[in-house]
Amino acid sequence: MATKRITSRNQAGDDILNLFKKDNEVGGGIDTSRRVRVGIIGTGWIAAAHIASYLKMPDVDIVAGADLIEGKADAFFKRHGVEGVHTYTSHKEMLEKERLDCVSVCTYNRTHAECAIDALDAGVHVLLEKPMCVTLDEAIQILRAEKRSGKVLSIGFQPRFDPNMRKIKEIVQSGELGEVYYIQTGGGRRRGIPVPFGTSFIEEQTAGIGAVGDIGCYSLDMVLNAVGYPKPLTVTGFRGAFFGNKPEYYRKHPEYAQKFGVDDFAAAFVRLEGGIILDFRIAWAMNMDTPGDTLIFGTKAGLRIPSTECWNGTVGGPMKAYMQFGGLETCMELPVIDSEGIDLFDLKIRSFLDAAKDGGKAPVPASEILYNQAIIDGIVRSSDLGREVEIVIPEL
Ligand SMILES: NC(=O)c1ccc[n+]([C@@H]2O[C@H](COP(=O)([O-])OP(=O)(O)OC[C@H]3O[C@@H](n4cnc5c(N)ncnc54)[C@H](O)[C@@H]3O)[C@@H](O)[C@H]2O)c1
Repeated sequence: MATKRITSRNQAGDDILNLFKKDNEVGGGIDTSRRVRVGIIGTGWIAAAHIASYLKMPDVDIVAGADLIEGKADAFFKRHGVEGVHTYTSHKEMLEKERLDCVSVCTYNRTHAECAIDALDAGVHVLLEKPMCVTLDEAIQILRAEKRSGKVLSIGFQPRFDPNMRKIKEIVQSGELGEVYYIQTGGGRRRGIPVPFGTSFIEEQTAGIGAVGDIGCYSLDMVLNAVGYPKPLTVTGFRGAFFGNKPEYYRKHPEYAQKFGVDDFAAAFVRLEGGIILDFRIAWAMNMDTPGDTLIFGTKAGLRIPSTECWNGTVGGPMKAYMQFGGLETCMELPVIDSEGIDLFDLKIRSFLDAAKDGGKAPVPASEILYNQAIIDGIVRSSDLGREVEIVIPEL
């Protein structure tokens, strides 16, 4: 069977969506004569979603895995019914000893950069979980490794494959909003600090950044991707901890408050190249139902995206477009596009594998997410300094 070839970055997602729709089952139209040898670095919570998708792919052999914690990788593969996998407690050793085509980097944020760089330097294609890393400096080092390796590096933003998310970009890119000059975005939960599997999201030495990186990166990606990822110029940012550091927040584990070393709230005002102003806020916990809908103001029309859990790949309800029509101020509701039968994780994995096999562009290029990371880094620096900061991105 001929392999589906990805022709361009924008085409990639559509091709993948259509491929799955057309064949109505994962794996249709895939060249199984060319197999992909996959390794997984970090076998915690999100690695389960990666392996579940890899197991659906008819051209994948899962051959190795690494986790710092002795025995964790073995237990992980056993739980998922995968036999004969070589396991390691060092990702470096795994990369040295195994002949791998692709790895998923599913470690906590603090080790994203070293694992991704080591894998790229070992000549392996990398699917790196979001957020790309912790600091802008790390992001630059990752991009330099990508450049010298010539390998595919894709960042794990599965909501990119949701048809409603794609519609947002299509609308903005069609010019129907006119010139976009202001965006408000963000999101949050009333009580939603992610500690169901321990404290790796809330400790400084493992997560490095809190809500701003964990879910903030998704809200930023939704809107920055829609407007073509303009370069961020300046940031006035704030981040703080108001819930996660209080023992009473945790019913079962009051001791987690002592471990909390990141942010559970952040807000920022960002100037983007091309004159767009971005107003952003994000919360893991708050005494409010939402920090607001996402709003995109254009000179011809405005788009309201109901407060969305975009980290789960969804829009919060029908979007609305506001414009002048027949000389009257009017508003149009856009139906939510049915995404039943689309597994965003399968699409994320499949599009990465196809890019790796066919030498295509990364479905979610690190060169775009660099600007996402630069904003997060700017928020952290601005908050520490208590003033606006410039974003300077060095030559790669
Ligand atoms: N895309 C998504 O929907 C999604 C959802 C949840 C988490 N994530 C991201 O996935 C990443 C991991 O999250 P998680 O919830 O699985 O964390 P986790 O703490 O459950 O698992 C991380 C694992 O990585 C291991 N590890 C860390 N450094 C390592 C190294 N150098 N070599 C080998 N193993 C190493 C840890 O021992 C741990 O077992 C985070 O960056 C998070 O933001 C993405």
